[in-house]
Amino acid sequence: MVVRQTALHLADEIWGCYPFQAVLDYAKNYIIAIQEQSVLEIGCGVGRCIGSIAKHFPKSNCWGIDYSYQMLKQAARVWVDKTDINIDLSSKGFPSSLLIKGYSLRNLQFGLAKANHLPFEDNSQDLVYSSFLLDRLENPQSALIEINRILKTPGKLLVISPLNFRHATHWASCYPPVKLKGLVHKAGFHILDWEEDIIIHEPLDFHGNTVQWKCIRFVAQKTG
Ligand SMILES: C[S@@+](CC[C@H](N)C(=O)[O-])C[C@H]1O[C@@H](n2cnc3c(N)ncnc32)[C@H](O)[C@@H]1O
Repeated sequence: MVVRQTALHLADEIWGCYPFQAVLDYAKNYIIAIQEQSVLEIGCGVGRCIGSIAKHFPKSNCWGIDYSYQMLKQAARVWVDKTDINIDLSSKGFPSSLLIKGYSLRNLQFGLAKANHLPFEDNSQDLVYSSFLLDRLENPQSALIEINRILKTPGKLLVISPLNFRHATHWASCYPPVKLKGLVHKAGFHILDWEEDIIIHEPLDFHGNTVQWKCIRFVAQKTG
């Protein structure tokens, strides 16, 4: 999983561009206005989004949270410890190995935690962001409530995710998307922007095979 995430998120050269650029641009649109404040990504994986945000907004105080130690280790190597990483994608048909350059960002930290138990004080964060996480959560409702707890009023939550739940109970509570909207309201948010059927293509190999994800994206503001 770490290798797959590294290849997808950090090896732009092999795909010709960053395959999830649209996801990142969506987040950046909302960060410009609050660039001197705190930004937290939950489920940051190898840190591509929060790393790019920290690089673009050097005055922001950024955190990347994930429950996988291996993901965080790779994220910290690339974004904080300035370690260059070599990846071999010959199993995906690519001809040679690729060197990924490391950075030493001073406004970015990584931490191990679960989305429904975040190690931050009440009312402490300006913006919480997550991509491709919502449908992986054990309990989406409790994560939304926990995010609301740590956000300042009127902090914002940005989510982009497929609705590809793993449990029947999650399908029942969050689908169709109007039910998810209800959970977001119930957790103490006012919805500012809500879009469905956003298509994101995840490239798989040198031949051009892809997986298509049909995503929702929304921005919600803490109501108090
Ligand atoms: C599909 S990856 C998405 C990574 C990245 N955000 C992206 O857009 O590609 C999901 C990430 O969320 C993490 N994750 C899954 N459930 C989590 C939870 N309950 N709390 C924190 N992280 C979680 C996984 O370890 C993984 O790194």
